[in-house]
Amino acid sequence: MDKPQLIEFSKVGSTNLGYLSVAENSALPFKIERVYWTYYTPDSIVRGHHAHKELQQLIFAVSGSIDFTLEDLNGQRVYFQLNQPNIGLYVPKLYWREIKLSHNAVLLCLASMEYEEDDYIRSYYDFHNLNRNSL
Ligand code: TYD
Repeated sequence: MDKPQLIEFSKVGSTNLGYLSVAENSALPFKIERVYWTYYTPDSIVRGHHAHKELQQLIFAVSGSIDFTLEDLNGQRVYFQLNQPNIGLYVPKLYWREIKLSHNAVLLCLASMEYEEDDYIRSYYDFHNLNRNSL
């Protein structure tokens, strides 16, 4: 999988009981090495502004709504909105991202690597001047 895409997970339950969804390594494009979540993001804030050299992510809006703008090394942009807890957004390596969360949103990220600041590309200029051979 090398393109950003939405992945739908099944929902177990009913409107009467409520629902449960599950993500297991066997059903994912990578092995989960880290989980983090963000919350209480003010409406005016745009998060992200970085890309990753190697990290792959599967991101859920477990509540609220989250807007993503993803840009590849060719400058092609794609937009996604997450607002259903059973739908995840797969983000491959090397996508510049800008992320806008509704104030009530909880973003849950399943990640393919533990946290490494060296894996971040935090400059948009550097992102677009990457020499792929240097990665
Ligand atoms: P960052 O990934 O830049 O968040 P966002 O793109 O949502 O704005 O991370 C914000 C800060 O949190 C940064 O100082 C690094 C730190 N951080 C960790 O220490 N461990 C982690 O697993 C993550 C994701 C971030």
